[in-house]
Amino acid sequence: KILILDFGSQVTQLIARRVREAHVYCEVHPCDVGSDWVRQFAADGRLKGVILSGSHASVYEVDDKAPDAVFELGIPVLGICYGMQTMANQLGGKVEGGHTREFGYAEVRAHGHTALLKGIEDFATPEGHGMLKVWMSHGDKVTQLPPGFKVMASNASCPIAGMADEARHYYAVQFHPEVTHTVQGAALLTRFVREICGARADWVMSDHVEEAIARIREQVGDEEVILGLSGGVDSSVAAALIHRAIGDQLTCVFVDHGLLRLHEGDMVMEMFEGKLHAKVIRVDASELFLSKLAGVSEPEQKRKIIGGLFVDVFKAEAAKLKQAGGGHKGASFLAQGTIYPDVIESGGKKAVTIKSHHNVGGLPEQLGLKLLEPLRDLFKDEVRELGVALGLPHAMVYRHPFPGPGLGVRILGEVKKEYADLLRRADAIFIEELRACIDEKTGKSWYDMTSQAFTVFLPVKSVGVMGDGRTYDYVVALRAVQTSDFMTADWAELPYTLLKKVSSRIINEVRGINRVTYDVSSKPPATIEWE
Ligand code: XMP
Repeated sequence: KILILDFGSQVTQLIARRVREAHVYCEVHPCDVGSDWVRQFAADGRLKGVILSGSHASVYEVDDKAPDAVFELGIPVLGICYGMQTMANQLGGKVEGGHTREFGYAEVRAHGHTALLKGIEDFATPEGHGMLKVWMSHGDKVTQLPPGFKVMASNASCPIAGMADEARHYYAVQFHPEVTHTVQGAALLTRFVREICGARADWVMSDHVEEAIARIREQVGDEEVILGLSGGVDSSVAAALIHRAIGDQLTCVFVDHGLLRLHEGDMVMEMFEGKLHAKVIRVDASELFLSKLAGVSEPEQKRKIIGGLFVDVFKAEAAKLKQAGGGHKGASFLAQGTIYPDVIESGGKKAVTIKSHHNVGGLPEQLGLKLLEPLRDLFKDEVRELGVALGLPHAMVYRHPFPGPGLGVRILGEVKKEYADLLRRADAIFIEELRACIDEKTGKSWYDMTSQAFTVFLPVKSVGVMGDGRTYDYVVALRAVQTSDFMTADWAELPYTLLKKVSSRIINEVRGINRVTYDVSSKPPATIEWE
């Protein structure tokens, strides 16, 4: 196993991810665990190497250092950025504040033939020097090597961009191998953990299930857990995982706000109650939500109402569970499907707020519950892989994201049941056809080739003709986008044949809609959702 000590960089989990991708087991722990802890962690003889992460701070701002035990175990150590600087400081070298901050793309020369960089290069200079394309982000730098070290990499602005003491198997780089901008980064990390540390490459995602289950059992003990199940990927995978770990100690609450997709509620129940035999309380709150939304057309106000009601309904259910009696003391944990990108977005490990789009903001405090977040360290694609390893259906795990306020933000202006019913049916047709349409070049369905696709209800009427009669009905817009991060997005160039089929099916099958349009706006300046 590999120990990653976290000095607070935003990309520490990326190091873990790269190590997992090399099929090596690793754990991330805070840098201040202390020497006794490190010795204890190594006591079973499985610890093969340590990686010191970067930090958002400078060695001059914080005095975080690696526990001394790290350098007493006789195993390889890799320092990254701040991790390199603290290594230099602790082993007798020198770090100085740079006058210029180096940030972003850089090229560094890989010197000599260290076991870490040998043969790894992106291009060679005319003189035959191997060069690496890397990503740098630092102000300080190492200016004097500690005894026993030699320069492993350099460039003009950072003469010691990498250093190594090969006798002790200590390596350090000023750049960030964990980010994809460092072209050889993954290769470098793989080589460190597998060849230099000699860690076993036998870790697979299904092992994560066992590890995560053990951790959940340890954290929860014999207490009870309550989880808000939305039907989305993250809460579904969290629910399946926690249920696997503690069975009936978990109660899922599924709030149907009446703004879900067609048959969604039934599908969630069938999966979790029917197949997994989890305890699920389905709350049909659609009338409550619709009545409070009546007459409201301003998007932010709609979101606030939906979010607020969700919290109220969830709290009421939690309270009911507590009163259920029969020695039932109620839940002491609130489980959430928070994933790593949510943790970063909400301010890193030290200031984690609740994922607002789970619509349970502030709930743990209000309910006096502890948080259980078993997916906190994983990236979205890893969560999906975990879902598959847990036996969830592919179609559920690879679903497009769906916003917490649901159809509430896809019905423009005032939300009415009539609109929601029309929209649900039109949307189901669009999604069905996207799944059925296979692209010849890639062999994938257009559902899988888009990041998010849905239908928007426009509460305006337009004139049409059907048979011999005139129609005067509503309009829907189809939206399909491709994006990697949902911060920017391109509208998808869906095949005309597909659009044609969707349009004719919606108009023929959904009475009340007589016109279908396709949204050709990218983000920015448009957003993905219409509200
Ligand atoms: P926009 O419309 O801002 O959406 O381009 C970006 C992504 O966020 C989703 N989204 C939400 N998800 N609660 C959510 O859970 C929300 O209130 C919400 N608003 C937007 C949207 O579906 C897209 O994937």
